[in-house]
Amino acid sequence: MANPQRVIIDVDPGVDDALALLMATASRELEILGVTVVSGNVPLDTGTRNALDVLFLAGAGDVRVFRGADRPLVREPVHTREVHGERGLGSAELLRSDAPAEENAVGFLVDRIAPDVSVIAVGPLTNLAQAERECPGLLARAREIVVMGGAIRAPGNSSPGAEYNFFADPHAAREVVAANANLTLVPLDVTHQVGVPAGAIASLEESERVRFFEQASRVVVSHGKATGGFEGIHLHDPVAVGWALAPELFSTEEFWIDVETTGELTSGQVVVDERRVDEAKQRGVLVRCLTGARVSDFLTLFSNLALGTSWPQGEARSSR
Ligand code: BDR
Ligand code: CA
Repeated sequence: MANPQRVIIDVDPGVDDALALLMATASRELEILGVTVVSGNVPLDTGTRNALDVLFLAGAGDVRVFRGADRPLVREPVHTREVHGERGLGSAELLRSDAPAEENAVGFLVDRIAPDVSVIAVGPLTNLAQAERECPGLLARAREIVVMGGAIRAPGNSSPGAEYNFFADPHAAREVVAANANLTLVPLDVTHQVGVPAGAIASLEESERVRFFEQASRVVVSHGKATGGFEGIHLHDPVAVGWALAPELFSTEEFWIDVETTGELTSGQVVVDERRVDEAKQRGVLVRCLTGARVSDFLTLFSNLALGTSWPQGEARSSR
């Protein structure tokens, strides 16, 4: 096997963040240098606790965890307890890890980002933006910055046009997009294609990880049902890990984008310049965006790694 890819994972756990961590830690193709936590779905203290406990469940309690930003750059924090539950992991009860969290996620990013290191960021982008402010040019030095965030042509999930991670810290999202990095965006356009219906979760053979998946996802499924949305769970954050592991499962397109930071209806929205004018006049930054997925192959990769099992034949195929 080739050398594993060195990664830092930035999270705000969050049910699907937890699933992304289970998936990443199970892959021998990734070497996780550290997990940095940011305020997002839940406040920083809760997210840090969840990261430690999920890593313990994954048998990866030795992975270093760093506390990061406890609030967005400018706007007030917006958490998502209605989607992820009061403590961020639905009704899952995890054994408590006794590993300590370290301080200074931003310092860790500044120290460790290098040409052979990728960052997989699946929460609001506050930590990355602060690291870039502290050390201009830092993000451009990374092998790749993979960001779950934004909505290109898809509608938003936090406002008409904004996806949650961009909505929760639009100024940070704008700064990261503008940082001239080798950036890959994993927007709702692709993650809304990759969902596991409630019935497929119930069909999995019982195990500790499957029990966690079922208990953590229950609140997400109920929220989908109550709001007339998808009765299942979209695997937003695991898709970003999937891209790092198996890019052949996805199709990409390039878009000129910028991020709006003002307006009650528009803050956090991705502005796409599709005017195809002269490059000098084109607004924003040209960014690689995932727009399609081989859904069933991705779900197989996800279940094998994150859950240590496969779907019974025919399950988890319908995914919206
Ligand atoms: C993103 O928002 C969060 O609630 C999820 O964890 C994911 O990172 C999807 O919009
Ligand atoms: Ca997240």
